[in-house]
Amino acid sequence: RGEPRLAGRRVVVTSGPTHEPIDPVRYIANRSSGKQGHAIARALAALGAEVTLVSGPVALPDPAGVRTVHVETAREMLAAVEAAMPSDAAVFCAAVADWRTDGAGAEKMKKEAGGGPPALRLVENPDILATVARRAEGRPALVVGFAAETTKVLEHARAKLARKGCDWIVANDVSAATGVMGGDRNTVHLVTGEGVESWPTMDKDAVARALAERIADALKDRQWV
Ligand code: PMT
Repeated sequence: RGEPRLAGRRVVVTSGPTHEPIDPVRYIANRSSGKQGHAIARALAALGAEVTLVSGPVALPDPAGVRTVHVETAREMLAAVEAAMPSDAAVFCAAVADWRTDGAGAEKMKKEAGGGPPALRLVENPDILATVARRAEGRPALVVGFAAETTKVLEHARAKLARKGCDWIVANDVSAATGVMGGDRNTVHLVTGEGVESWPTMDKDAVARALAERIADALKDRQWV
């Protein structure tokens, strides 16, 4: 028996949602459970990689054998990812909020009688995947993004691959009927520069193991970092 396939390789994985505060008690969030991202971190560690998992708020235990960093907001996630660099590969499975409020209030917003509902002003969050994929120096050899779509899954995934500058995109349909967000199974398409591979529906651990093997294949003959 030889060395584990990813021995000596460093990989950063993001997982879960981000929470963007509105005031001290309210936040903007999404339905990501972290199941897919945490499974990827576990699968990479099982192949011997040194994994840093940057996780938004989830109800899952920290995976054994993985360094887990807990964050809440997109900006905290970006800072934690940057702090975990350099790495040989990075996998961005988190469902990062695209927008945050334009300055969360320090006090709880009051429901004033007759005042009507407040208007939330939103501003764009940093794009963590694009920031890492476009690093001029110290870019991971392999940058893998996800695409969560509800229509034209492959078309939007290909556009994201080009726009964000990553090497692969794992595309999944997150329409409510699929139950993918929060559920135990996933149906993914691996979009690379060479084309598209559509994988059968599997549980998220199996998707994670298959992706980890593909990452090990891609890093096999690379000596840098
Ligand atoms: O957590 P689970 O319940 O197991 O569900 C898994 C999942 C559906 C969340 C996961 O499989 C998935 O699709 N993750 C990506 C979710 C997402 O936000 O996709 P997106 O198409 O909006 O973003 C595209 C890519 O850019 C993603 O890699 C995302 O991590 C990244 N991104 C997006 C916005 C942002 N500000 N920074 C980012 O890094």
